[in-house]
Amino acid sequence: MTTIESPTAAGSGSAATKNFTDLRVTADTSPERLSAIATEAFAGFSALIDKYEITYDEYRVLKQWLIDVGAGGEWPLLLDVFVEHDIEEVNSRKYQGSKGSIEGPYYLPDAPLLPARCTLPMRGRDARQTPLVLHGQVTGLDGTPLPAATIEIWHADAEGYYSGFAPHLPEWNLRGTVVTDGDGRYEITTIQPAPYQIPTDGPTGKFIEAAGWHPWRPAHLHLRVAAHRRHPIITQLYFQGGDWLDSDVASATKPELLLDPKPDAAGRNCVRYDFVLDPE
Ligand code: DHB
Ligand code: FE
Repeated sequence: MTTIESPTAAGSGSAATKNFTDLRVTADTSPERLSAIATEAFAGFSALIDKYEITYDEYRVLKQWLIDVGAGGEWPLLLDVFVEHDIEEVNSRKYQGSKGSIEGPYYLPDAPLLPARCTLPMRGRDARQTPLVLHGQVTGLDGTPLPAATIEIWHADAEGYYSGFAPHLPEWNLRGTVVTDGDGRYEITTIQPAPYQIPTDGPTGKFIEAAGWHPWRPAHLHLRVAAHRRHPIITQLYFQGGDWLDSDVASATKPELLLDPKPDAAGRNCVRYDFVLDPE
């Protein structure tokens, strides 16, 4: 008998934790700013503890749960689901170009370079899904086309798994770095992604279940669009009429990010989306 290894939260989470930890990120936060933010954060906890008269049992369950989140490598999953959308919102206020959305835990830099008209690397079983053709143009705020802009794209397969974070998938499956042509245009052929479920077998999933929430994100594509001397955008695109659009567990949908693909003669879902980049 053969068993097919099925990916787990522990697998996806710890891969995301390792990937992130390798970046060794820094920020130039002053001691005064850190002190002010931390003081208000603890004051917020204080007020909640008082308001709900948090019990010792509840405190100890919280402590164990936080330990489990760390041990399971799930901090990237948890933070990107419940916190990143506010960070993205605040930090994109000053830009006028295309709308951004959360990066999430599954970005990988340096995906293989692909020409402006391309098909993402995929397995035979992915190719049995409905083809999706996403095309359009990358321009500056004034409409100037941006040749040689890069569109990094990554998305889950029909089972909701991302390559690089699920050991059963080939490296770079459904990922690529697409370079726009001389007119800033691109045409990416991939497959229609399925809704994504936050892994239910780890502490993040257990918490969502305990609170009586659902663990779903609507089907989405992730993109990072960059060009010379432009501010890069990280965004996601969703599908009109799809499930979970109004109750995304990660609160990361926006009306500007909805696609409404139409089938062509060959039965491929086709849709145009243009990206507009601010100056850097
Ligand atoms: C998570 C996964 C995603 O694909 C995403 O876009 C956002 C968050 C997560 O599992 O935390
Ligand atoms: Fe995602």
